[in-house]
Amino acid sequence: MSWKVRANDGIDPLGQRLLEEAGCIVETDHLEADELMSRIAEYDALLVRSATKVREDLINAATRLKVIGRGGVGLDNIDVDYAQHKGVAVVNTPAASSASVAELVFAHLFSMVRGIQITNRVMPERGQEEFKALKKLCSNGSELAGKTLGIIGAGRIGRETARIGIGCGMNVIFHDPFVENVNVEVSFHPSLGLENQTATLKTISKEELLKSSDFISLHIPGGGETVIGHPEFELMKDGAGLVNCARGGVVDEQALVNAINSGKIAFAGLDVFAKEPPEFLDVLKLDQVSLSPHIGAATVEAQERVGQELADKVLAHLSKAQSN
Ligand code: 3PG
Repeated sequence: MSWKVRANDGIDPLGQRLLEEAGCIVETDHLEADELMSRIAEYDALLVRSATKVREDLINAATRLKVIGRGGVGLDNIDVDYAQHKGVAVVNTPAASSASVAELVFAHLFSMVRGIQITNRVMPERGQEEFKALKKLCSNGSELAGKTLGIIGAGRIGRETARIGIGCGMNVIFHDPFVENVNVEVSFHPSLGLENQTATLKTISKEELLKSSDFISLHIPGGGETVIGHPEFELMKDGAGLVNCARGGVVDEQALVNAINSGKIAFAGLDVFAKEPPEFLDVLKLDQVSLSPHIGAATVEAQERVGQELADKVLAHLSKAQSN
């Protein structure tokens, strides 16, 4: 039996090879929504990242589809309940990209406390003539060590972010309405011969976290309500920093721009935006904002793990569907 698989946002070569070795025909080019709609009835499996939206109308047209695979964590681009109601399984790879997203959080944090996002923008043009002035501009950097990192969301990525924060000497605190105690495993490189340590941290209220954090990092799913808007910025410490490598919709971008322009918060790091590509351009133009184009999971290592896990899960569902 050969299954036809459409990896509409691509798939790592390892995942593709595993699928092909199991007899799948894998198509990895990207089809835009209209063309995907007209061809979806050809496929047994549809694999996506965040770019392809899998809504009810597409699922209705997918008469042969047995499984939708999300290569990554967020399922907000897929109508999961509807797919399951139609008998189409939905799988994702929740653990594969945690380390990469958490490292990106720190790329933004380290950048913003030293103004690297500004100097990277201006040094190609002004780095020679205005070296001294730029040095002065960035002369009030700060260290992360000793500061309080507030993490909203105690899932895998939140805990991985905590692990790095602890390693940097930060005081890490958590808010998560669904979790009381968070176990953060702090592991060391095997060559060091050190035993892993587990820190157990009690979660606190959102208000308490907003008031006590020097930096706040968000690790919550999208598709719901705004979690950080004007009232939350008001509660934050003066001069705090915010990082969002989760989902754009959880932060009110206009409120963020206002909070930065008024000096209430000092900086932000954004990997995700309310609309992607971003439509609210003010948020892209501030010197205090370190930016990346939704690349949290975009590392070679994460994508290889994603591809492998996705292939295994999708093949398990295709085999099950065949034996039924
Ligand atoms: C995720 O939900 O896994 C991340 O946001 C990554 O999305 P991407 O696979 O589209 O890069």
